[in-house]
Amino acid sequence: MYVCLCHNVTDSDIHRVVREEGVCTVRQLGERLGVATQCGKCGKCAKEVLREARQCARAEQACHPLMAAA
Ligand code: FES
Repeated sequence: MYVCLCHNVTDSDIHRVVREEGVCTVRQLGERLGVATQCGKCGKCAKEVLREARQCARAEQACHPLMAAA
């Protein structure tokens, strides 16, 4: 789903930068992807997707020790 139409940013893009680059604030999303830096209408949605992405990233990290032991 598109989160930021001005910069063609999707929820998958946000999940990727959270997982791979450790982005953890909307401000960092703006610096990295341009989210909420033009019209600003995407700010609220971006914040929600960011929260979800951070939860997913934490869950993946929590699973890594179990996967290594398997
Ligand atoms: S929709 Fe994201 S800055 Fe306009």
